[in-house]
Parts: sequence; structure tokens; C-alpha cells
Amino acid sequence: MSIGDPAAFAPHAAPGVSRRGLLKAGLGVAGVGALVFPGTGAYAALEAANDLVITPYRLTPPGWRAGQRLTISVIADLHAGGPNMGLQRVRQVVDAANALQSDLIVLMGDYFATHRFVTEVVPNEAWSEELGRLRAPFGVYSILGNHDWWHGVKGVREALNRVHVPLMENDAVLLGDPGRRFWLAGLGDQLAHWLGPSRFRGVDDLPGTLKKVTTDDPVLLLVHEPDIFVQVPERVSLTIAGHTHGGQIRLPLVPPLWTPSAYGARFAYGHIVERNRHLIVSGGLGCSQVPLRLGVPPEILHITLG
Ligand SMILES: [Fe+2]
Repeated sequence: MSIGDPAAFAPHAAPGVSRRGLLKAGLGVAGVGALVFPGTGAYAALEAANDLVITPYRLTPPGWRAGQRLTISVIADLHAGGPNMGLQRVRQVVDAANALQSDLIVLMGDYFATHRFVTEVVPNEAWSEELGRLRAPFGVYSILGNHDWWHGVKGVREALNRVHVPLMENDAVLLGDPGRRFWLAGLGDQLAHWLGPSRFRGVDDLPGTLKKVTTDDPVLLLVHEPDIFVQVPERVSLTIAGHTHGGQIRLPLVPPLWTPSAYGARFAYGHIVERNRHLIVSGGLGCSQVPLRLGVPPEILHITLG
């Protein structure tokens, strides 16, 4: 894998800035910096491998019924593979998600590690078997990420299918009990096909996805990359995204040095509200480029609506 190929972490580059340049200026420098300063590097390796936080969000976004409580666990950017996300660690993540006893569990794509420092390969059969242990009354649903597309989408599809986790690609399902129904929609990946430096062709179809919403019930939308949020209409109560890893290596009190987004740090992490529309971006669990995390510990989101 070269730093300029699709395995790299940077999907977007600002006009006039090459993707390779962005990589060097961003996460690459931060990662190398962490390695140059051994104490920081060791800390970042430990944070990636050992920390696991549950990040709670509680909100009633527009369009959601105030009296309708729904809990959602979000597993984003697992990137299964050692040193930081070996099979034991994947088990720990699944156990922690099950312990939350959420009504719904969603898997946000990028299931296996593709960086050059993998010390333990976790095959598709192994990580998917663990994800297959997830349980929630309204089910477990998944979408695909860019790394899935770039490094073996067929295997990921088969793996999720084998453990009966529905994969949503520009699709929507109506869930919940009578009188308290809601739509769960999942978007195809926006960076699915790498065409060259800073050039991608997505398989996302937001209008087509929302056309499948045929009742007035509230809509939750799963997207891997948050950038599509600028196009999401108010009809969607909440958009949930991953992909950014919150910047992955982040120094205190300053925005992330680098975020894989055309909008810089605007959608890097957390609960973002713009024009009465709500987006929650997970910092994810695994690593891209380097098995290090700094200031953005691996997290499972626990969202409570209503
Ligand atoms: Fe991604």
C-alpha cells in the first residue's frame, strides 16, 4: 500500500492541494510526530489499543416524537486488525455494545484495517462472526465505508450476509411499533470508486433513498462520510456518520490537524446542528494509516432520542 493509493485516509483535497500533500501535511505528520516523540507515540498506541469509551448523546431532533424514546448504539470504523483491534478487542467492543441494551444497533462501515502496520489480521469471517453476536430488539443494520469498497467489498458483503446483518445501500426500512414507527435509511458510500488523486465516484443516491420513505414517520439516516450532510433535507430528523475518526490524532484545545473531509473540521466530530438539521459524527473505534490515536479515544456512541 502506498500513501497515495486508496488505502490512504484522505478522500478529499481542497482545491489546489493534492491529496498526497494533504496526507503529508495532516495525519502523516501527526503520526510521524507521535513516533518521533516516543512518549507521545506510546501513549497514542495505548489509547488506540486500550481505551474504549461510551459516548452518550441525548436529544429530540426536529420531527422526532417527544414521547418516543429510542436508544441506538453506533459502531463506526471498526478497522479490525492488530495491534489495536485484534479479535479479542473486537469481542470486547461487541460485549460492550450488547451491554448497553440499546433498541437498535448500527454499523457504520470500514470493517477491517488496511494500514501497513497490521500485526494481527482479523479475517472477514472472524470480525463478522463477532458482529453477528450483536443483539437489539429492532435489529442490527449496516452500511459500507470507503475502505470496504477499496479493499474487498465482495468479502465484506458476504461476511455481513453470513451473519444475517442487513446491509443498507440507498435503502430505507420502517421499524418500530405501531404509532411509533420510524424510518432507518442507509446511504451507499460516497467514495466507493477511486478514480485518481482526489477523484472519486460514489454510489450514494440520497434522493433515491429518501424516495423510499413513504410515510410521515421520522427518518434516521446512516452515512459513512459526513460530507453529504450539506445536502440532507430537514425531513431527516438525525443523520449519523463515521469515517473521520474525529481526526484520529488530535492535540488539546485545537481543531484536528487534518480531517478526511472536503469541509475541513466542520464535520470532524460530535453533534453538529446546522439550519435546524442534526448530525452526529462518531470518532469510531479503529485506526487508519497508523495504529495510533491521540485525544480521540475509541468510542461506541449511545444515542437516546425522545
Ligand atoms: Fe472511512
